[in-house]
Amino acid sequence: MNENWGFETKQIHAGQEPDPTTGSRTVPIYQTTSYVFRDTDHAADLFALAEVGNIYTRIMNPTQMVLEARLQALESGTDTAIGIPGALAVASGQAAETLAILNLAEAGDHLVASASLYGGTYNLLHYTLPKMGIQTTFIDDPDDLDAWQSAVQPNTKLFYAESIGNPRNDCLDITGVSGVAHQSGLPLVVDNTVATPYLIKPLELGADIVVHSMTKFIGGHGNSVGGVIIDGGNFDYGESGRFSNFTEPDPSYHGLAYWPALGNGSFIIKARVQLLRDVGAAISPQNAFYFLQGLETLSLRMERHFSNTQQVAEYLNAHPKVEAVQYSGLADSPWHSRLSAFGQGRGYGSVPAFIIKGGVEAGKKFLNALQLHSHVANIGDVRSLAIHPASTTHSQLTPEEQIKAGVVPGLVRLSVGLETISDIIEDLDRGFAAS
Ligand SMILES: Cc1ncc(COP(=O)(O)O)c(C=O)c1O
Repeated sequence: MNENWGFETKQIHAGQEPDPTTGSRTVPIYQTTSYVFRDTDHAADLFALAEVGNIYTRIMNPTQMVLEARLQALESGTDTAIGIPGALAVASGQAAETLAILNLAEAGDHLVASASLYGGTYNLLHYTLPKMGIQTTFIDDPDDLDAWQSAVQPNTKLFYAESIGNPRNDCLDITGVSGVAHQSGLPLVVDNTVATPYLIKPLELGADIVVHSMTKFIGGHGNSVGGVIIDGGNFDYGESGRFSNFTEPDPSYHGLAYWPALGNGSFIIKARVQLLRDVGAAISPQNAFYFLQGLETLSLRMERHFSNTQQVAEYLNAHPKVEAVQYSGLADSPWHSRLSAFGQGRGYGSVPAFIIKGGVEAGKKFLNALQLHSHVANIGDVRSLAIHPASTTHSQLTPEEQIKAGVVPGLVRLSVGLETISDIIEDLDRGFAAS
Protein backbone atom coordinates (compact mmCIF):
# COMPACT_ATOMS: atom_id res chain seq x y z
CA MET A 1 0.00 0.00 0.00
CA ASN A 2 1.18 3.50 -0.83
CA GLU A 3 2.33 5.23 2.34
CA ASN A 4 0.74 8.54 1.37
CA TRP A 5 -2.60 6.88 1.01
CA GLY A 6 -4.57 7.67 4.14
CA PHE A 7 -7.44 5.49 3.10
CA GLU A 8 -7.96 3.03 5.88
CA THR A 9 -8.79 4.67 9.13
CA LYS A 10 -9.98 8.24 9.50
CA GLN A 11 -11.92 8.32 6.24
CA ILE A 12 -13.60 4.96 6.62
CA HIS A 13 -14.86 5.93 10.06
CA ALA A 14 -15.79 9.51 9.22
CA GLY A 15 -19.13 10.84 10.35
CA GLN A 16 -19.81 8.78 13.41
CA GLU A 17 -18.49 8.64 16.95
CA PRO A 18 -19.14 5.57 19.14
CA ASP A 19 -22.66 5.62 20.58
CA PRO A 20 -22.34 7.47 23.93
CA THR A 21 -24.71 5.08 25.71
CA THR A 22 -23.72 1.69 24.34
CA GLY A 23 -20.21 2.35 23.01
CA SER A 24 -21.24 0.67 19.74
CA ARG A 25 -19.14 1.60 16.70
CA THR A 26 -21.43 0.04 14.13
CA VAL A 27 -23.89 2.45 12.58
CA PRO A 28 -27.54 1.94 13.63
CA ILE A 29 -30.13 1.40 10.91
CA TYR A 30 -32.66 4.21 11.32
CA GLN A 31 -35.53 2.37 9.67
CA THR A 32 -37.98 5.23 9.90
CA THR A 33 -39.92 7.43 7.52
CA SER A 34 -40.05 10.64 9.53
CA TYR A 35 -38.79 12.45 12.62
CA VAL A 36 -40.78 14.11 15.40
CA PHE A 37 -40.52 17.91 15.50
CA ARG A 38 -40.05 19.57 18.90
CA ASP A 39 -42.71 22.16 18.10
CA THR A 40 -44.06 24.17 15.15
CA ASP A 41 -41.12 26.63 15.18
CA HIS A 42 -38.67 23.73 14.97
CA ALA A 43 -40.64 22.25 12.05
CA ALA A 44 -40.68 25.57 10.19
CA ASP A 45 -36.95 26.15 10.83
CA LEU A 46 -36.08 22.72 9.42
CA PHE A 47 -38.11 23.32 6.28
CA ALA A 48 -36.47 26.74 5.82
CA LEU A 49 -32.93 25.35 6.35
CA ALA A 50 -32.62 27.84 9.26
CA GLU A 51 -31.80 24.75 11.31
CA VAL A 52 -30.49 21.54 9.77
CA GLY A 53 -32.05 18.25 10.80
CA ASN A 54 -34.02 15.23 9.71
CA ILE A 55 -37.47 15.83 8.29
CA TYR A 56 -38.33 12.83 6.15
CA THR A 57 -36.27 9.86 4.94
CA ARG A 58 -36.85 10.66 1.26
CA ILE A 59 -34.53 13.65 1.81
CA MET A 60 -32.27 12.69 4.70
CA ASN A 61 -31.69 9.82 7.13
CA PRO A 62 -29.01 9.35 9.83
CA THR A 63 -27.75 5.98 8.50
CA GLN A 64 -27.54 7.39 4.99
CA MET A 65 -25.73 10.45 6.29
CA VAL A 66 -22.88 8.46 7.85
CA LEU A 67 -22.41 6.68 4.52
CA GLU A 68 -22.37 10.05 2.76
CA ALA A 69 -19.79 11.49 5.19
CA ARG A 70 -17.48 8.54 4.54
CA LEU A 71 -17.82 8.74 0.78
CA GLN A 72 -17.22 12.48 0.87
CA ALA A 73 -14.01 11.82 2.84
CA LEU A 74 -12.84 9.00 0.55
CA GLU A 75 -13.44 11.03 -2.62
CA SER A 76 -12.02 14.29 -1.19
CA GLY A 77 -15.40 15.98 -1.51
CA THR A 78 -16.30 19.31 0.04
CA ASP A 79 -17.83 20.14 3.40
CA THR A 80 -21.03 22.14 3.14
CA ALA A 81 -21.96 25.47 4.69
CA ILE A 82 -24.86 23.86 6.58
CA GLY A 83 -22.88 21.01 8.12
CA ILE A 84 -24.32 18.11 6.12
CA PRO A 85 -22.02 15.93 3.98
CA GLY A 86 -20.91 17.03 0.51
CA ALA A 87 -22.28 13.73 -0.81
CA LEU A 88 -25.75 12.41 -1.52
CA ALA A 89 -26.60 8.69 -1.50
CA VAL A 90 -29.52 7.67 -3.72
CA ALA A 91 -31.42 4.61 -4.93
CA SER A 92 -29.07 3.47 -7.73
CA GLY A 93 -26.13 4.48 -9.89
CA GLN A 94 -28.55 5.47 -12.64
CA ALA A 95 -30.41 7.72 -10.16
CA ALA A 96 -27.10 9.33 -9.14
CA GLU A 97 -26.25 10.10 -12.77
CA THR A 98 -29.74 11.39 -13.54
CA LEU A 99 -29.88 13.68 -10.52
CA ALA A 100 -26.32 14.96 -11.09
CA ILE A 101 -27.17 15.87 -14.68
CA LEU A 102 -30.63 17.33 -13.97
CA ASN A 103 -29.09 19.43 -11.20
CA LEU A 104 -27.09 21.25 -13.89
CA ALA A 105 -29.02 20.90 -17.16
CA GLU A 106 -32.67 21.68 -17.90
CA ALA A 107 -34.93 21.52 -20.97
CA GLY A 108 -33.16 23.26 -23.85
CA ASP A 109 -29.69 22.48 -22.48
CA HIS A 110 -26.89 20.28 -23.76
CA LEU A 111 -24.01 18.18 -22.46
CA VAL A 112 -20.87 16.66 -23.91
CA ALA A 113 -20.04 13.06 -23.00
CA SER A 114 -17.45 10.43 -23.73
CA ALA A 115 -18.89 7.65 -25.91
CA SER A 116 -17.06 5.08 -23.78
CA LEU A 117 -19.86 4.48 -21.30
CA TYR A 118 -21.80 1.78 -19.52
CA GLY A 119 -24.77 0.88 -21.78
CA GLY A 120 -27.39 2.11 -19.30
CA THR A 121 -25.72 5.52 -19.11
CA TYR A 122 -25.58 5.73 -22.90
CA ASN A 123 -29.32 4.99 -23.04
CA LEU A 124 -30.04 7.69 -20.46
CA LEU A 125 -28.08 10.29 -22.42
CA HIS A 126 -29.05 9.18 -25.91
CA TYR A 127 -32.75 8.30 -25.50
CA THR A 128 -34.29 9.42 -22.21
CA LEU A 129 -32.76 12.85 -21.56
CA PRO A 130 -33.67 14.11 -25.08
CA LYS A 131 -37.33 13.39 -24.19
CA MET A 132 -36.82 15.97 -21.41
CA GLY A 133 -35.23 18.42 -23.86
CA ILE A 134 -31.59 17.72 -22.92
CA GLN A 135 -29.29 16.73 -25.81
CA THR A 136 -25.87 15.06 -25.70
CA THR A 137 -22.93 15.23 -28.10
CA PHE A 138 -20.81 12.08 -27.77
CA ILE A 139 -17.04 12.23 -28.15
CA ASP A 140 -15.85 9.07 -29.93
CA ASP A 141 -12.21 9.58 -28.96
CA PRO A 142 -12.24 11.04 -25.42
CA ASP A 143 -8.46 11.54 -25.61
CA ASP A 144 -9.04 14.17 -28.31
CA LEU A 145 -9.27 17.36 -26.23
CA ASP A 146 -10.05 19.47 -29.31
CA ALA A 147 -13.15 17.34 -29.91
CA TRP A 148 -14.44 18.18 -26.41
CA GLN A 149 -13.70 21.87 -27.01
CA SER A 150 -15.42 21.97 -30.40
CA ALA A 151 -18.54 20.28 -29.03
CA VAL A 152 -19.25 23.10 -26.56
CA GLN A 153 -22.38 25.14 -27.38
CA PRO A 154 -23.84 28.25 -25.72
CA ASN A 155 -26.36 25.98 -23.93
CA THR A 156 -23.83 23.34 -22.78
CA LYS A 157 -23.97 22.69 -19.03
CA LEU A 158 -21.49 19.88 -18.32
CA PHE A 159 -18.95 17.34 -19.52
CA TYR A 160 -19.57 13.71 -18.54
CA ALA A 161 -17.29 10.64 -18.64
CA GLU A 162 -16.23 7.48 -16.80
CA SER A 163 -12.77 7.50 -15.16
CA ILE A 164 -12.31 3.92 -16.44
CA GLY A 165 -14.76 3.09 -19.23
CA ASN A 166 -16.98 0.01 -18.81
CA PRO A 167 -16.11 -2.15 -20.74
CA ARG A 168 -13.60 -0.33 -22.99
CA ASN A 169 -11.14 0.01 -20.10
CA ASP A 170 -9.88 3.37 -21.34
CA CYS A 171 -8.64 5.79 -18.69
CA LEU A 172 -10.03 9.32 -18.97
CA ASP A 173 -7.59 12.22 -19.17
CA ILE A 174 -9.29 13.82 -16.18
CA THR A 175 -6.78 16.68 -15.95
CA GLY A 176 -6.96 17.49 -19.67
CA VAL A 177 -10.74 17.16 -20.06
CA SER A 178 -11.46 19.15 -16.88
CA GLY A 179 -9.07 21.85 -18.15
CA VAL A 180 -11.11 22.18 -21.35
CA ALA A 181 -14.37 22.15 -19.37
CA HIS A 182 -13.21 24.90 -17.02
CA GLN A 183 -12.03 27.12 -19.88
CA SER A 184 -15.65 27.13 -21.07
CA GLY A 185 -17.12 27.59 -17.58
CA LEU A 186 -18.36 24.00 -17.37
CA PRO A 187 -18.10 21.38 -14.62
CA LEU A 188 -16.80 17.87 -15.34
CA VAL A 189 -18.90 15.02 -13.91
CA VAL A 190 -17.01 11.71 -13.60
CA ASP A 191 -18.46 8.25 -13.01
CA ASN A 192 -15.79 6.65 -10.78
CA THR A 193 -17.57 3.29 -10.37
CA VAL A 194 -15.00 1.02 -12.02
CA ALA A 195 -11.93 2.75 -10.57
CA THR A 196 -13.22 3.42 -7.01
CA PRO A 197 -11.60 6.13 -4.84
CA TYR A 198 -9.03 3.54 -3.82
CA LEU A 199 -7.52 3.80 -7.30
CA ILE A 200 -8.43 7.26 -8.62
CA LYS A 201 -9.74 10.37 -6.89
CA PRO A 202 -11.16 12.40 -9.79
CA LEU A 203 -11.87 15.48 -7.65
CA GLU A 204 -8.14 15.78 -6.88
CA LEU A 205 -7.35 15.61 -10.61
CA GLY A 206 -9.70 18.40 -11.69
CA ALA A 207 -13.18 16.86 -11.86
CA ASP A 208 -15.99 18.76 -10.14
CA ILE A 209 -18.60 16.10 -9.38
CA VAL A 210 -18.19 12.34 -8.91
CA VAL A 211 -20.93 9.75 -9.23
CA HIS A 212 -20.85 6.04 -8.39
CA SER A 213 -22.95 3.00 -8.77
CA MET A 214 -22.43 1.77 -5.18
CA THR A 215 -24.00 -1.48 -6.39
CA LYS A 216 -20.51 -2.50 -7.53
CA PHE A 217 -17.29 -2.09 -5.56
CA ILE A 218 -18.53 0.19 -2.77
CA GLY A 219 -20.81 -2.66 -1.66
CA GLY A 220 -18.84 -5.60 -3.03
CA HIS A 221 -21.39 -8.04 -1.60
CA GLY A 222 -23.81 -7.89 -4.52
CA ASN A 223 -26.84 -7.59 -2.22
CA SER A 224 -27.95 -3.96 -2.71
CA VAL A 225 -28.46 -1.42 -5.48
CA GLY A 226 -27.44 2.16 -4.70
CA GLY A 227 -25.68 5.24 -6.01
CA VAL A 228 -23.94 8.34 -4.72
CA ILE A 229 -23.03 11.84 -5.89
CA ILE A 230 -20.02 13.64 -4.38
CA ASP A 231 -19.48 17.37 -4.75
CA GLY A 232 -15.91 18.68 -5.14
CA GLY A 233 -17.05 22.15 -4.11
CA ASN A 234 -14.57 24.04 -6.29
CA PHE A 235 -16.78 25.04 -9.20
CA ASP A 236 -17.91 28.67 -9.31
CA TYR A 237 -21.50 28.66 -10.62
CA GLY A 238 -21.60 32.46 -10.58
CA GLU A 239 -18.39 33.13 -12.51
CA SER A 240 -19.33 30.54 -15.12
CA GLY A 241 -22.30 32.63 -16.24
CA ARG A 242 -24.15 29.52 -17.43
CA PHE A 243 -26.09 28.58 -14.31
CA SER A 244 -29.13 30.77 -13.67
CA ASN A 245 -30.61 27.66 -12.01
CA PHE A 246 -28.03 28.27 -9.24
CA THR A 247 -27.84 32.04 -9.21
CA GLU A 248 -31.54 32.93 -9.58
CA PRO A 249 -34.07 32.43 -6.74
CA ASP A 250 -35.74 28.99 -6.66
CA PRO A 251 -39.47 29.60 -6.15
CA SER A 252 -39.87 25.97 -5.05
CA TYR A 253 -37.48 26.55 -2.15
CA HIS A 254 -38.46 29.81 -0.46
CA GLY A 255 -36.82 31.85 -3.25
CA LEU A 256 -33.36 30.54 -2.32
CA ALA A 257 -30.56 31.29 -4.81
CA TYR A 258 -28.24 28.37 -4.10
CA TRP A 259 -25.16 30.20 -5.35
CA PRO A 260 -23.47 32.07 -3.74
CA ALA A 261 -25.67 31.74 -0.61
CA LEU A 262 -24.61 28.14 0.07
CA GLY A 263 -21.09 28.48 -1.37
CA ASN A 264 -19.05 25.29 -1.82
CA GLY A 265 -21.48 22.44 -1.58
CA SER A 266 -24.36 24.39 -3.12
CA PHE A 267 -24.47 21.71 -5.86
CA ILE A 268 -25.06 18.85 -3.46
CA ILE A 269 -27.52 20.78 -1.26
CA LYS A 270 -29.56 21.73 -4.32
CA ALA A 271 -29.52 18.09 -5.49
CA ARG A 272 -30.93 17.02 -2.13
CA VAL A 273 -33.43 19.70 -1.16
CA GLN A 274 -34.80 20.35 -4.64
CA LEU A 275 -34.29 17.33 -6.92
CA LEU A 276 -34.29 14.40 -4.51
CA ARG A 277 -37.27 15.99 -2.77
CA ASP A 278 -39.19 16.04 -6.08
CA VAL A 279 -37.88 13.00 -7.94
CA GLY A 280 -37.77 10.80 -4.84
CA ALA A 281 -35.05 8.31 -5.81
CA ALA A 282 -34.08 7.80 -2.16
CA ILE A 283 -31.88 5.00 -0.83
CA SER A 284 -33.38 2.78 1.89
CA PRO A 285 -31.73 2.97 5.33
CA GLN A 286 -31.17 -0.79 5.23
CA ASN A 287 -29.27 -0.55 1.93
CA ALA A 288 -27.24 2.41 3.26
CA PHE A 289 -26.20 0.13 6.13
CA TYR A 290 -25.15 -2.63 3.71
CA PHE A 291 -23.00 -0.16 1.78
CA LEU A 292 -21.37 0.96 5.04
CA GLN A 293 -20.46 -2.67 5.67
CA GLY A 294 -18.95 -2.96 2.21
CA LEU A 295 -17.01 0.27 2.46
CA GLU A 296 -15.10 -0.93 5.54
CA THR A 297 -13.24 -3.51 3.42
CA LEU A 298 -12.99 -1.57 0.16
CA SER A 299 -9.20 -1.12 0.17
CA LEU A 300 -8.50 -4.76 1.04
CA ARG A 301 -10.88 -6.02 -1.60
CA MET A 302 -9.43 -3.73 -4.26
CA GLU A 303 -5.89 -4.92 -3.55
CA ARG A 304 -6.99 -8.51 -4.17
CA HIS A 305 -9.19 -7.58 -7.16
CA PHE A 306 -6.21 -5.84 -8.75
CA SER A 307 -3.65 -8.58 -8.14
CA ASN A 308 -6.02 -11.29 -9.40
CA THR A 309 -6.97 -9.21 -12.45
CA GLN A 310 -3.37 -8.58 -13.45
CA GLN A 311 -2.78 -12.33 -13.50
CA VAL A 312 -6.00 -13.00 -15.42
CA ALA A 313 -5.11 -10.30 -17.99
CA GLU A 314 -1.65 -11.76 -18.54
CA TYR A 315 -3.15 -15.26 -18.90
CA LEU A 316 -5.69 -13.96 -21.45
CA ASN A 317 -3.05 -12.00 -23.33
CA ALA A 318 -1.00 -15.17 -23.86
CA HIS A 319 -4.00 -17.38 -24.72
CA PRO A 320 -4.17 -18.67 -28.33
CA LYS A 321 -7.98 -18.36 -28.39
CA VAL A 322 -7.91 -14.66 -27.48
CA GLU A 323 -7.79 -12.02 -30.19
CA ALA A 324 -7.28 -8.98 -27.95
CA VAL A 325 -7.49 -7.93 -24.31
CA GLN A 326 -8.92 -4.58 -23.12
CA TYR A 327 -7.14 -3.81 -19.85
CA SER A 328 -4.78 -0.97 -19.04
CA GLY A 329 -2.69 -3.09 -16.69
CA LEU A 330 -1.02 -4.51 -19.81
CA ALA A 331 2.03 -2.49 -20.79
CA ASP A 332 0.90 -2.15 -24.42
CA SER A 333 -2.46 -0.59 -23.49
CA PRO A 334 -2.70 3.04 -24.71
CA TRP A 335 -3.87 3.97 -21.21
CA HIS A 336 -1.21 2.11 -19.21
CA SER A 337 1.01 5.06 -18.38
CA ARG A 338 -1.88 7.42 -17.58
CA LEU A 339 -3.48 4.98 -15.17
CA SER A 340 -0.06 4.17 -13.68
CA ALA A 341 0.30 7.88 -12.90
CA PHE A 342 -3.25 8.34 -11.55
CA GLY A 343 -3.26 5.14 -9.50
CA GLN A 344 0.42 5.31 -8.44
CA GLY A 345 0.76 1.64 -9.29
CA ARG A 346 -1.99 0.45 -6.96
CA GLY A 347 -3.77 -1.28 -9.85
CA TYR A 348 -5.63 -0.89 -13.15
CA GLY A 349 -9.22 -1.85 -12.39
CA SER A 350 -10.71 -5.33 -12.30
CA VAL A 351 -13.21 -5.39 -15.15
CA PRO A 352 -11.07 -6.60 -18.06
CA ALA A 353 -12.67 -7.57 -21.34
CA PHE A 354 -11.38 -9.72 -24.18
CA ILE A 355 -12.31 -10.64 -27.71
CA ILE A 356 -12.62 -14.37 -28.11
CA LYS A 357 -11.64 -16.00 -31.41
CA GLY A 358 -14.73 -17.42 -33.11
CA GLY A 359 -17.00 -14.43 -32.33
CA VAL A 360 -20.43 -14.61 -30.72
CA GLU A 361 -20.83 -18.40 -30.97
CA ALA A 362 -17.49 -19.07 -29.28
CA GLY A 363 -18.36 -16.46 -26.65
CA LYS A 364 -21.65 -18.19 -25.85
CA LYS A 365 -19.98 -21.59 -25.49
CA PHE A 366 -17.29 -20.04 -23.30
CA LEU A 367 -19.86 -18.44 -20.96
CA ASN A 368 -22.08 -21.52 -20.77
CA ALA A 369 -19.14 -23.72 -19.72
CA LEU A 370 -18.03 -21.53 -16.77
CA GLN A 371 -18.72 -22.93 -13.30
CA LEU A 372 -16.94 -20.65 -10.84
CA HIS A 373 -17.86 -17.43 -12.63
CA SER A 374 -21.44 -16.23 -12.14
CA HIS A 375 -23.11 -15.27 -15.40
CA VAL A 376 -24.72 -12.02 -14.22
CA ALA A 377 -25.27 -8.40 -15.29
CA ASN A 378 -23.10 -6.88 -12.63
CA ILE A 379 -19.50 -5.97 -11.81
CA GLY A 380 -17.55 -5.33 -8.62
CA ASP A 381 -18.79 -8.34 -6.68
CA VAL A 382 -16.42 -10.35 -4.47
CA ARG A 383 -17.29 -13.29 -6.76
CA SER A 384 -15.92 -13.53 -10.29
CA LEU A 385 -18.51 -12.59 -12.90
CA ALA A 386 -18.71 -12.88 -16.69
CA ILE A 387 -21.06 -11.60 -19.38
CA HIS A 388 -21.42 -11.03 -23.12
CA PRO A 389 -22.05 -7.24 -23.35
CA ALA A 390 -23.22 -7.14 -27.00
CA SER A 391 -26.29 -9.29 -26.20
CA THR A 392 -26.95 -7.94 -22.68
CA THR A 393 -25.64 -4.75 -21.00
CA HIS A 394 -25.04 -2.96 -24.33
CA SER A 395 -27.72 -4.73 -26.41
CA GLN A 396 -29.92 -1.65 -26.77
CA LEU A 397 -27.11 0.16 -28.63
CA THR A 398 -26.80 -0.06 -32.41
CA PRO A 399 -23.76 -2.01 -33.74
CA GLU A 400 -22.03 1.33 -34.49
CA GLU A 401 -22.75 2.65 -30.99
CA GLN A 402 -21.50 -0.61 -29.51
CA ILE A 403 -18.17 -0.25 -31.32
CA LYS A 404 -17.75 3.29 -29.94
CA ALA A 405 -18.38 1.94 -26.44
CA GLY A 406 -15.71 -0.73 -27.02
CA VAL A 407 -18.18 -3.59 -27.53
CA VAL A 408 -17.51 -5.91 -30.50
CA PRO A 409 -19.64 -9.06 -31.04
CA GLY A 410 -17.00 -11.43 -29.63
CA LEU A 411 -16.29 -9.36 -26.51
CA VAL A 412 -16.52 -11.10 -23.13
CA ARG A 413 -16.42 -8.92 -20.02
CA LEU A 414 -15.09 -10.30 -16.77
CA SER A 415 -15.30 -8.86 -13.30
CA VAL A 416 -12.45 -10.59 -11.53
CA GLY A 417 -13.35 -11.55 -7.97
CA LEU A 418 -11.47 -12.42 -4.84
CA GLU A 419 -11.24 -16.21 -5.24
CA THR A 420 -7.93 -18.06 -5.33
CA ILE A 421 -6.30 -17.17 -8.64
CA SER A 422 -5.69 -20.80 -9.65
CA ASP A 423 -9.44 -21.50 -9.33
CA ILE A 424 -10.27 -18.51 -11.52
CA ILE A 425 -7.79 -19.55 -14.22
CA GLU A 426 -8.98 -23.16 -14.08
CA ASP A 427 -12.53 -21.97 -14.76
CA LEU A 428 -11.39 -19.79 -17.67
CA ASP A 429 -9.52 -22.83 -19.06
CA ARG A 430 -12.83 -24.71 -18.89
CA GLY A 431 -14.54 -21.95 -20.88
CA PHE A 432 -11.87 -21.86 -23.58
CA ALA A 433 -11.89 -25.65 -23.90
CA ALA A 434 -15.65 -25.51 -24.61
CA SER A 435 -15.36 -22.57 -27.04
C1 LIG B 1 -19.98 2.34 -14.77
C2 LIG B 1 -21.40 2.22 -14.31
N1 LIG B 1 -22.09 3.32 -13.96
C3 LIG B 1 -23.36 3.26 -13.56
C4 LIG B 1 -24.05 2.06 -13.52
C5 LIG B 1 -25.49 2.04 -13.11
O1 LIG B 1 -25.58 1.68 -11.77
P1 LIG B 1 -26.86 0.98 -11.12
O2 LIG B 1 -26.99 -0.35 -11.73
O3 LIG B 1 -26.52 0.97 -9.65
O4 LIG B 1 -28.03 1.86 -11.40
C6 LIG B 1 -23.39 0.89 -13.87
C7 LIG B 1 -24.10 -0.41 -13.82
O5 LIG B 1 -23.64 -1.42 -14.32
C8 LIG B 1 -22.02 0.97 -14.29
O6 LIG B 1 -21.33 -0.13 -14.64
